[in-house]
Amino acid sequence: MNSVENIKVTRNYTLKNALKLMNDSGKTILLLLDDSGILLRTITDGDIRRLLLADTGLNDTLECLPPREAVVVRVGASNDEVLALMDKYEVNQIPVVDANNKPIELFLRRDIQPRIQLSIPHMGGYELQYVEEAFRTNWIAPLGPNVDAFEKELTGYLGAGYAAALSSGTSAIHLALRLLDVSRGDIVLCSSFTFVASANPILYQAAVPVFIDSEPATWNMSPIALETALKLYCDSGQKPKAIIVAHLYGQSADMGSIMRLSAQYDVPVVEDAAESLGARYRGQHTGTFGKFGVFSFNGNKIITTSGGGMLISDDEKLIEKARFFSTQARDPAPHYEHTEVGYNYRMSNVLAGIGRGQLKVLDSRVKARRDVFERYKESLSTLECLEWMPQPDDDYSNRWLSVGCLNPEKTTLRPKDLINALVVKNIEARHVWKPMHQQPLYKGCDYYPHGEHSFSDYLFETCLCLPSASNMSVEQQQSVIRTIRAVYEK
Ligand SMILES: Cc1ncc(COP(=O)(O)O)c(C=O)c1O
Repeated sequence: MNSVENIKVTRNYTLKNALKLMNDSGKTILLLLDDSGILLRTITDGDIRRLLLADTGLNDTLECLPPREAVVVRVGASNDEVLALMDKYEVNQIPVVDANNKPIELFLRRDIQPRIQLSIPHMGGYELQYVEEAFRTNWIAPLGPNVDAFEKELTGYLGAGYAAALSSGTSAIHLALRLLDVSRGDIVLCSSFTFVASANPILYQAAVPVFIDSEPATWNMSPIALETALKLYCDSGQKPKAIIVAHLYGQSADMGSIMRLSAQYDVPVVEDAAESLGARYRGQHTGTFGKFGVFSFNGNKIITTSGGGMLISDDEKLIEKARFFSTQARDPAPHYEHTEVGYNYRMSNVLAGIGRGQLKVLDSRVKARRDVFERYKESLSTLECLEWMPQPDDDYSNRWLSVGCLNPEKTTLRPKDLINALVVKNIEARHVWKPMHQQPLYKGCDYYPHGEHSFSDYLFETCLCLPSASNMSVEQQQSVIRTIRAVYEK
């Protein structure tokens, strides 16, 4: 609990002194007391701002504040009671008073309502046995039995050919491009609506990114825009070297159409399945359609190794080469011999142990995230303007993040209005990824929209990601739902 000693004021304080006290205490509340120490009212930074806007001077005293009954609790109030009062009066701080109405201490929302985060790690209990095994056998290196087993277990789960465990999803995308011989000046087509890590490896290879819009059915790469770009570049003799397709927020892109175009124009696909492990397109796992598939085990992903990635392919030789490049491209020789440039991209054996444990609970994590999504959708179904990320029939999204869209034809509310209201309640929500063609880093790059209007721009303007962790409690989710409802009902 928090002390109230440094936030007590009396009526003879000037506004300036009151503001200074707030500043020094780091709190946004003061307690106005009478001469015998009895609480008269609370004062927030908003109260002082309103006085200043009404032309009260900085040197005027707190006498000019109108009386107002303070929201307080008695000693012994439970956290639930305090939280209910905070929600009712839309405050984040409530003083505790004794029987004489003298303040004793202060409840802060952040102390009793831990932050609800967007997506956090969720250990399953199996991880430590593999990590301990690594310690016991002293395999604390970027190779070892956990690395080999994690690769095999993941390909077994996916029904895929071969895998190289790496230090990140970004490094996996980089190696995929390197293995496809993407080099200076080559054109690489890439989803625009994605996280920047999908596109940055194109620049690592000094190649030229060209961005492709999303389509309404999946919010992922538009086959229509892709075809326009492929035709144009191929007809002009600049055949692209690769297509990087992201499966955002756990939803597969339209892989049937994209793979048909890839075959027709003979341009290989790299699937950025960093966010979609466990998701399927017509029964087949995302990441297993293209020449390469990429997964991420970053701390915010559906399963995590704290940091890590995996490159998969049906081509054994390419995966062997990926392992070679990821360990500094050391040639077979009794000494250190190098003919090609390599990287330090291999996954550590300790982290692969976490991955093996996490893989055992992957299906239950997917189910939990899908349940979170359904609960939002059902509980907020009366808010007609709130639409949800689609999942075409026959697809199975892992619903890594629950993403909602505020239809601008039905509401004037924007994502930032909900995000700000949630922040006040110590709940994290975020804008969706800002499309790559809008990023200063990629200014001037070619961009192919889905139709007359850019669909990814519409998504960025209207959508937001809600907390979606698989270990989020139903109560936490109810708190998100209540907060969103309250914004609409205002
Ligand atoms: C779509 C997408 N691509 C690539 C990455 C990069 O993965 P990593 O953070 O493991 O490098 C991420 C996640 O961070 C991602 O969300």
